[in-house]
Amino acid sequence: MDMDKLVSLCKRRGFLFQSSEIYGGLNGFWDYGPLGVELKRNIKEAWWQDMISGHNELLISDGAPCEHQMVGIDCSIIMHPQVWKCSGHYDLFHDFMVDCKESKKRYRHDQVRGRWALAKEQRVFIATQSGGDEGLQETEQKALKFFNLRAKSLEEISWDGPLVSLVTITDFDKVLGPDAKILGTLTPPREFNLMFKTIVGAMGGEESSAFLRPETAQGIFVNFKNVVDSSRVKIPFGIAQIGKSFRNEITPRNFTFRSREFEQMEIEFFCHPSQSSQWYKYWRDRRYKWYTDLGLSSSRLQLRDHHKEELSHYSCGTADIEYAFPFLPPGEFGELEGIAHRGDFDLKSHMEGKLVRSGDELIVEQGEDGKPKHRGSGKDLRYFNDQTRERFIPHVIEPSAGADRGTLAFLCEAYFEEEIEGETRVVLRLNPRIAPIKAAIFPLVNKDGMPEKAKAIYGDLKKEFSVFFDDGGAIGRRYRRQDEIGTPICITVDGQTNQDNTVTWRNRDTLEQKRIPIEALREELRTLLKA
Ligand code: GAP
Repeated sequence: MDMDKLVSLCKRRGFLFQSSEIYGGLNGFWDYGPLGVELKRNIKEAWWQDMISGHNELLISDGAPCEHQMVGIDCSIIMHPQVWKCSGHYDLFHDFMVDCKESKKRYRHDQVRGRWALAKEQRVFIATQSGGDEGLQETEQKALKFFNLRAKSLEEISWDGPLVSLVTITDFDKVLGPDAKILGTLTPPREFNLMFKTIVGAMGGEESSAFLRPETAQGIFVNFKNVVDSSRVKIPFGIAQIGKSFRNEITPRNFTFRSREFEQMEIEFFCHPSQSSQWYKYWRDRRYKWYTDLGLSSSRLQLRDHHKEELSHYSCGTADIEYAFPFLPPGEFGELEGIAHRGDFDLKSHMEGKLVRSGDELIVEQGEDGKPKHRGSGKDLRYFNDQTRERFIPHVIEPSAGADRGTLAFLCEAYFEEEIEGETRVVLRLNPRIAPIKAAIFPLVNKDGMPEKAKAIYGDLKKEFSVFFDDGGAIGRRYRRQDEIGTPICITVDGQTNQDNTVTWRNRDTLEQKRIPIEALREELRTLLKA
């Protein structure tokens, strides 16, 4: 699939626009247009319906079914700065960046790759931001230019090893930066905290500074006690939240995949430590199935367990659900969602202070004065089981999904071009549940009472479904316009409608048409959306 075509469709048909476009745009920020907002809202609603309000799942635990409750929450974006100190984000939520003194560009250290090239008795690390075959070709072109060679003299360059990350390189004076013409222009890597800082109140000093949340999860942890005390939930249970998060990404890219403002759909699932491994496995499998049920093909989706070295300092296990986005080199996958076993790290940190790992244990990190480096709330966030009389800090399983990455994956998966009678049909094969418009209603021609009849059907269906009325242009063109925005059904009022009160019902994917009575339309659409 050609990503440029999807990006242009998204703009042309009103799915996605660059933020502040009339002022030249702002890198890493995106706006959803009229169709995009419906698509993303449907994805978020499907998630909320399947995971929270409509969930009715049981986990078989030791042979006995174990019910679990799911509740929602909606927390503020700006929270007490101590939240981020105890969560670890203040000290640890950073990427390493390198600057190029020549091009004035900034790169994420781990995203620059390159190859050692040898020619004219010089050994140079040729860097690029691309991966795979594209990266190899780019380094060849750059090397030819650097060594002042013609394309046909490529064999004069010998290559020492494959593309490797800049992270493995120490000889920065031998590096030719991705956009540089001379050697040694990249600075050594520096830490860069990804949290956006802001000022709360009118005083404006450092003591008034706060952060835009980089994840929705912490709002859930700091409200754990409030939810337990107010809603009578019993462990095991989950608290879910959908909301905006902000990260000052060094290199936002790949359309909405890496943005600076994005939406997350997160669940913090609290359970007894002795059952946490079971629940971890349960959520891994359940979340993977959610994507395939909504239409992502399992050949492009993978569930990948993190290696031990990849795990966060608190995590006892993490798996990513990854999708083979078309903008990635063949064989590479991008993260859609992480499912992490967080143990008792978060609640304990918010009780006692920021934790660090010491051997197998998590202990409160000490400052130079021997006191906790970042003090916790001091509140007792343990859970009390009134039947067993046990008091304990629950373990947490966290399925954390990105709503924008999900939306992008569903769009990529849905995009098809096919030849029909010498014409190219562009079609978005979106699952009807998430399609922005469920049905379009057309009068075949604008006479003989057809527009009035079609308008009446439109008015009736609109009370329950997102539908669209179109009476402009040839019927074939109207079908195509709906196909490329993923509308599953087109309903046409024609000459026969006046005689027998039936309309044609055309299926986007099979192109089959059947006649159905007007009074059956609502039920047919309901069935379609349940499938
Ligand atoms: N609370 C855990 C957490 O935030 P994460 O892996 O950093 O974990 C979870 O983020 C999900 O949020 C990712 O799998 C991804 O879908 C989405 N996400 C993270 N950073 C993003 C970005 N810069 N742009 C778009 N989505 C992002």
